[in-house]
Amino acid sequence: MKLAARVGRITPSPTLALAATAKAMAARGIDMADFSSGEPDFDTPEPVKAAAEAAIRAGFTKYTPSSGIDELRQAIIDKLHAEQGLRYEKSQVLVSCGAKHSLYNLAEALLEAGDELIIPVPYWVSYADQTLLNDATPVFLQTREEDGYAIDAQELERLVTPRTKAIIVNSPCNPTGATYHRATLERLAELAVRRDLLLISDEIYEKVLYDGATHTSIAALGPEVAARTVVINGVSKAYAMTGWRIGYAAGPKDLLNAMANIQSQSTSNPCSISQKAAVVALRDGDAFTKKMVTEFDRRRRVIVERLNAMPGVRCSMPSGAFYAFPNVSGLLGKRSPSGVLSTPTDLANYLLHEFKVAVVPGEPFGSNQHIRLSYATSMETILKGMDRLDAAFKQLT
Ligand SMILES: Cc1ncc(COP(=O)(O)O)c(C=O)c1O
Repeated sequence: MKLAARVGRITPSPTLALAATAKAMAARGIDMADFSSGEPDFDTPEPVKAAAEAAIRAGFTKYTPSSGIDELRQAIIDKLHAEQGLRYEKSQVLVSCGAKHSLYNLAEALLEAGDELIIPVPYWVSYADQTLLNDATPVFLQTREEDGYAIDAQELERLVTPRTKAIIVNSPCNPTGATYHRATLERLAELAVRRDLLLISDEIYEKVLYDGATHTSIAALGPEVAARTVVINGVSKAYAMTGWRIGYAAGPKDLLNAMANIQSQSTSNPCSISQKAAVVALRDGDAFTKKMVTEFDRRRRVIVERLNAMPGVRCSMPSGAFYAFPNVSGLLGKRSPSGVLSTPTDLANYLLHEFKVAVVPGEPFGSNQHIRLSYATSMETILKGMDRLDAAFKQLT
């Protein structure tokens, strides 16, 4: 069958594929140390589950308004106002089946052939593929590990062309764990206003911050910035609700209206039961998140310290999210019993097959020097995995 050309431009999500392979190996009884997964290992909070049960019992199991129930959209409006001082009307808020779906609706509503979207590197894999799926071109802005992956506004401006539609802002960042300082956000906002660009602010890890840091949405920098920013967020990471599939977007009315129309003709509403659960998560979930982040912090320190003690590995301390992103360039070119490891993918395959450790190679994130390890997994797994990495790297010559 002749498939649409766009299909040939994308690959299946490599992080999901790797997580699936690791899970399949574990299901075959293999003792894995799995660092591939981008989801909290905590259970969804009890009150959230109770709200879902109550929704089922009450028969709240039918279609809802396509853009989401009023109660949830109001909870989102209240959250953005209380935490960031932002003001939105209901027509500016769209609830979707996960933040990935929110981003997809946005890409469909915004991009067409010839359009360019600027994506800072390293980046979350789906930004580029969703751009390609909508016939547009991802334009990559290199950032440097030694600068904490900060965006250089001048370098960014050099990439802006008459075809540039938008810039991705992902703080805290998957995969680096880096967060942007307020000064960086201000320079980005100034540029976006001056060059008439949209800011796509993916804030899905906003609550996973360390060392007392607090999150500032770029939209909160002023009304003229808010008017050209789409805030993307969801309940997956902050409330351990990855499977419930609730994400949302808030932004300019005409754009959100277009996104809502696309959703109404594609998926319709996100799951009715999950929406009821998400209301409780957004209104009452922060104590849960704080506890979870305290535990992530403990693991973060252990995993980064262990990685840095390994010869050939250098790992900066992430200030947000739950990923370590060590630079493994010191190991590339070395020989393993199964051959030379030239790339992060070679290294990840070696670790997976010879040592039963699942890590995600850097290439799909735009780096040929790093691997990504999620520390949203038990301390026991972290310690076991670090012992295995030690052993694996010692065998390289
Ligand atoms: C940066 C980033 N944005 C968005 C998402 C999508 O989250 P979800 O679709 O579960 O809400 C993820 C998930 O891994 C992510 O890492």
